[in-house]
Amino acid sequence: MFPSLLHYLEVILLNVLFNSRFPDDPYDRMWQRYENVDGWTDVPNKSNGEIKNSTNDNYDAPSAVMRSASTPVNDSRMDLSWSSDSSMNVGVDPKFFLVLYFAELEAVQELRQFDVSVDNNPLASAFSPKFLLPTVLSGIVQGSNEHSVSLVATSNLALQPLINAMEIYMVRPVNESNSLDANAMMTIQEKFSVKKNWVGDPCAPISFAWNGLNCSYTTNSPPRITALNMSSSGLVGEIDASFGQLTLLQHLDLSHNSLSGSIPVFLGQVPALQFLDLSSNNLSGSIPWSLLEKTQRGLLTLRVDNNPGLCGNNTCNPIQKKRRNKTKLLQIVISVIVAVSLLVLAVFLFVIWDRRKKRPDLAHSTNTFENRRFTYKELKHITNNFNSVIGRGGFGLVYVGCLENGALVAVKMRSETSSQGNTEFLAEAQHLARVHHKNLVSLIGYCKDKKHLSLVYEYMDEGNLEDRLRGQESLNWLQRLKIALDSAHGLEYLHKSCSPPLIHRDVKTGNILLTTNLQAKLSDFGLTRAFSSEMVTHMTTRPAGTLGYLDPEYYATSHLSEKSDVYSFGVVLLVLITGQRAIITISDTERNNITIWARHGLSEGDIDSVIDPRIRGDCDINSVWKVAELALQCTQHTGRDRPTMTEVAEGISESLQLETSSRSMRCSSSGTGGSALADGEPVGALETELIGETSAR
Ligand SMILES: *[C@@H]1O[C@H](CO)[C@@H](O)[C@H](O)[C@H]1NC(C)=O
Ligand SMILES: *[C@@H]1O[C@H](CO)[C@@H](O)[C@H](O)[C@H]1NC(C)=O
Ligand SMILES: *[C@@H]1O[C@H](CO)[C@@H](O)[C@H](O)[C@H]1NC(C)=O
Ligand SMILES: *[C@@H]1O[C@H](CO)[C@@H](O)[C@H](O)[C@H]1NC(C)=O
Ligand SMILES: *[C@@H]1O[C@H](CO)[C@@H](O)[C@H](O)[C@H]1NC(C)=O
Ligand SMILES: *[C@@H]1O[C@H](CO)[C@@H](O)[C@H](O)[C@H]1NC(C)=O
Ligand SMILES: *[C@@H]1O[C@H](CO)[C@@H](O)[C@H](O)[C@H]1NC(C)=O
Ligand SMILES: *[C@@H]1O[C@H](CO)[C@@H](O)[C@H](O)[C@H]1NC(C)=O
Repeated sequence: MFPSLLHYLEVILLNVLFNSRFPDDPYDRMWQRYENVDGWTDVPNKSNGEIKNSTNDNYDAPSAVMRSASTPVNDSRMDLSWSSDSSMNVGVDPKFFLVLYFAELEAVQELRQFDVSVDNNPLASAFSPKFLLPTVLSGIVQGSNEHSVSLVATSNLALQPLINAMEIYMVRPVNESNSLDANAMMTIQEKFSVKKNWVGDPCAPISFAWNGLNCSYTTNSPPRITALNMSSSGLVGEIDASFGQLTLLQHLDLSHNSLSGSIPVFLGQVPALQFLDLSSNNLSGSIPWSLLEKTQRGLLTLRVDNNPGLCGNNTCNPIQKKRRNKTKLLQIVISVIVAVSLLVLAVFLFVIWDRRKKRPDLAHSTNTFENRRFTYKELKHITNNFNSVIGRGGFGLVYVGCLENGALVAVKMRSETSSQGNTEFLAEAQHLARVHHKNLVSLIGYCKDKKHLSLVYEYMDEGNLEDRLRGQESLNWLQRLKIALDSAHGLEYLHKSCSPPLIHRDVKTGNILLTTNLQAKLSDFGLTRAFSSEMVTHMTTRPAGTLGYLDPEYYATSHLSEKSDVYSFGVVLLVLITGQRAIITISDTERNNITIWARHGLSEGDIDSVIDPRIRGDCDINSVWKVAELALQCTQHTGRDRPTMTEVAEGISESLQLETSSRSMRCSSSGTGGSALADGEPVGALETELIGETSAR
């Protein structure tokens, strides 16, 4: 076929057209009129007929080109000659490929018949062009000397010869693409039935390199493919192994296709890959470690967004889960021993450490961690030299990191200047090591390396509830209820299932973290205290917490009980209902506590004045009222009057059922979809069992 032929015939020497230059060529050839030759004339264009398509003509000379022809005025022969131009650097023994086009334009009575020869070697004898039907003759000649084509009438009786067009190519070996690259590209083209105009060699010649790819051309070796852009190419199916065979590939864009299956590991082994865009596909599974690791080291820019089935943002973390199961027995043993010895002592140990102003030694408590111990160097590695900060707490900065298994983690470093000291660090580590619940953020490991202290948590994709509520895409009422219920379960677990019970002391929307599926987990156990009614230690000297969430009774009396958490949780509920902050700015000088503000509105029976406008039209008002009443009970001034977290969780659960059934009625009556339930579990089956069973009881 002609187009592929073009790939091997690089230089068009000469196009001959006995007419003006013609632009409408399927192969972009530029046809030029051959210089006027004395004794030649145009064949008159008398016929009205169309130039027909000829199966013989693979070279598709445009019809306007074939509409013109030259013939000698008075001679029985035509000679055309050419020699190679020194500027063309043809080498010693150039090869030329020539294509001659013929079609009769006159409805002639007499016979037009001539011999065609190239350098005196016959190409065709007694040849007669057909009326309005192209005939193409082609041949090859070699050598740097002058070459000629001769058309000679077979007899004096015959009409003079004519010719419509001629092309001469110089044949030049091209440096074909590296054969592995070429094979890989052929496979890709075939597998995905690529609809691009991909023919011939992918990289060569340069001017005919395939669309969507870039090659590197060096003098001593075949061209190699360095960039491939198959974005928006309608690719369907799995990512083919052939992509992995393009071993010099630096840039691969497969975005906006319908690729499915998992991201193959071999992509991580393409050594030079610097940019990989797999966004907007239907890929699933997790991101291979090899890719994440390169990303971490700053070697690769990876885009994977908009792949609904893809996890890697911590949602699948098989290694971690496995480890948990394996160590379960160990955990139980540890927890029994620890419960008896270490944990009972924990409070006293803290006091002692505090007094001595000694640096606490984590080695003492290492037994409480079934978690991994990281070195500072490892942390540096997994956080890519602490390059992305995802949060800031009293403790210090929080960085994102990536473990070998691809799980993302949050690395909370204790800063030298942090308001929370080593005691809090230890407290948090201790408590987290003990607690395991799906609604409490889980500790993956810690680091105590000289002066560096840090905690490594599971990473929570959706950040904290506070930010999420303020963000562009807010949460609907059903989502808020589920988050409230999750958080309530987390707190209930701390209060009821831990022994001694734990009081979080810093419950607030900023400490409720969200996963991709908006599952909520309580975090930040830096202020958490063990609490036992038999102990006298529940008198703390320094009430701590966050303004707006702080239990006024505790603040006034320093008497700590789990009801302080209930108060703070009531504030969280009010924030969820109203969308306001815990401290509402009324004017430059005036601020109001959300509890006072909401209580005022609600006591007048006016829920509309306090409800978040973003949920107002999209919620069951009874469901909201129920939670509002619950919030008011939680924020009672006296701890005794507040419900327990178990009661709070029950209340929210009922409210959730109200909302869900009202939503399904709304859907079936209006016939519209859009139920936010789609991604959630059915309410009747809400899980309430605890994942962590290992705390000592
Ligand atoms: C030749 O004649 C035909 C029919 O009269 C016309 O359509 C065509 O454009 C002419 N071609 C040229 C090259 O003048
Ligand atoms: C000749 O074939 C080309 C491509 O196959 C087509 O576009 C063109 O219309 C045809 N011309 C005639 C006169 O049939
Ligand atoms: C054609 O050729 C004949 C003899 O070869 C010559 O006499 C005549 O002048 C030529 N006519 C033209 C137009 O060149
Ligand atoms: C092909 O490779 C040779 C050396 O192998 C080099 O001299 C030449 O320039 C290359 N040609 C092209 C078109 O890249
Ligand atoms: C890749 O192709 C897409 C679609 O053809 C285009 O929008 C994009 O700009 C291309 N990217 C590069 C780097 O050329
Ligand atoms: C190929 O190189 C050109 C010029 O440097 C650049 O504009 C284009 O985006 C590259 N294509 C790909 C697929 O990277
Ligand atoms: C994505 O893949 C899943 C199976 O892995 C399939 O059920 C779903 O229809 C696919 N979605 C699209 C948009 O192709
Ligand atoms: C993970 O989360 C980040 C930020 O939320 C997002 O940009 C990224 O696309 C997510 N990755 C996957 C695989 O969903």
